[in-house]
Amino acid sequence: MKKLLITASLAALIASSGVVAYDDKAADAAKEHRHGLMQSIKNSALSMRRIMSGDLDQAENYSALATALSASTGIAKAAFNENTVGKGKGHTTAKDHIWDNWEDFSARLDKLDADVKALERAAMHNNVGGSKNELVQVFKNCKSCHDEYRSEH
Ligand code: HEC
Repeated sequence: MKKLLITASLAALIASSGVVAYDDKAADAAKEHRHGLMQSIKNSALSMRRIMSGDLDQAENYSALATALSASTGIAKAAFNENTVGKGKGHTTAKDHIWDNWEDFSARLDKLDADVKALERAAMHNNVGGSKNELVQVFKNCKSCHDEYRSEH
């Protein structure tokens, strides 16, 4: 009987440590996914701004960049679904209170995506000149959210 109990508790221990390891792995993967997605958002949006200012000679790819940006912002909210507070070893600059203020945080990502969808429509057929206001509007979302929900390091 004693042996059986020990076996049972050992099995429970192994099972629970397996869960912890999986949690950490999933949290680190979620963090990496967020980093990559935010970098994609930055790359597409910055290239569009450089085309707008005339620094980058890629106007023929302007609407394709808007579509790439739109694909990224379309999945940004889901990328934060996983509450990674206290989990994993991977670096993150996401502040913990994102998940205490999920309604506000996720509404901001909805707004970013809505503004990007408006930009995508205005940018159709590589319409650089006709989508300036929409591009400016998209950039307004970045800093205000980072100020509130992203730490410096
Ligand atoms: C609703 C909030 C929100 C909006 C809007 C937002 N971001 Fe972020 N961003 C974050 C958070 C939170 C992180 C930290 C993610 C992490 O480290 O896990 C982040 C991280 C980043 C990073 C660093 C990625 C890395 O390698 O760690 C970049 C670059 C970035 N954002 C660019 C942008 C740009 C450009 C925009 C606007 C077009 C934008 N973000 C809009 C919340 C937001």
